[in-house]
Amino acid sequence: MKSIIVCASTHHGNTRKVADAIAKECNVEVVDAVAVREKDLSDYDLIGFASGIYGAKFHRAVIDFAAKNLPNDKKIFFLSTSAMNMDFTKSMDSGLTGKNAEVVGKFSCNGYNTFGPFKLIGGTSKGRPNEEDLKNAVEFYKNMIEKL
Ligand SMILES: Cc1cc2nc3c(=O)[nH]c(=O)nc-3n(C[C@H](O)[C@H](O)[C@H](O)COP(=O)(O)O)c2cc1C
Repeated sequence: MKSIIVCASTHHGNTRKVADAIAKECNVEVVDAVAVREKDLSDYDLIGFASGIYGAKFHRAVIDFAAKNLPNDKKIFFLSTSAMNMDFTKSMDSGLTGKNAEVVGKFSCNGYNTFGPFKLIGGTSKGRPNEEDLKNAVEFYKNMIEKL
C-alpha cells in the first residue's frame, strides 16, 4: 500500500511528531504542505491530511493542498493535534468538495499550546503529544490499514 501524509504543523511541530511517528514505523511518506504546494498523488492508495488546529480549522495550506492535488475517489484519513482535542475535520470540507473521497479514519490528540493568553500561564497540554500519544497514533494507523 502506497501511503502519504500531507502535514502542516506550524505552532510547535506537534502534529509533525505524530506524522513522523507513523512514518517511521509504517513506511509512509510525509510532505509539508506549507513548503510543497503541488504534488501528483495519483499513485497513492491512501492519503492522510494532518494539521494543528488554528481558529477551529485545519491549516489553510492543508485545505488548499487537498483542493489542488487530491485526485477523485481516494481513501483518506485525518490526523490533528489541538488544545481541545475535538473533531475539527469538518473544516477540511471545502478542500474535498467534489472529490468523492472516502474517509477511512481519524486520529486526534492534545498538542502543546501557547497561543495568545495561554502563553502567560505556561501554555496548555505541555509535553503533548507524548510517547503514549505517539504509540496510540501508530496503533491507529496500523488498525486502519488492516481493515482496508
Ligand atoms: C493561532 C492558533 C490558533 C489556535 N486555535 C485553536 C482552536 O481553535 N482550537 C484548539 O483546540 N486549539 C487551537 N490552537 C492550539 C493548537 O491547535 C495546538 O497547539 C496544536 O497542537 C498545534 O499544532 P502544531 O504544533 O502541529 O502546529 C491554536 C493555536 C494557535 C497558534
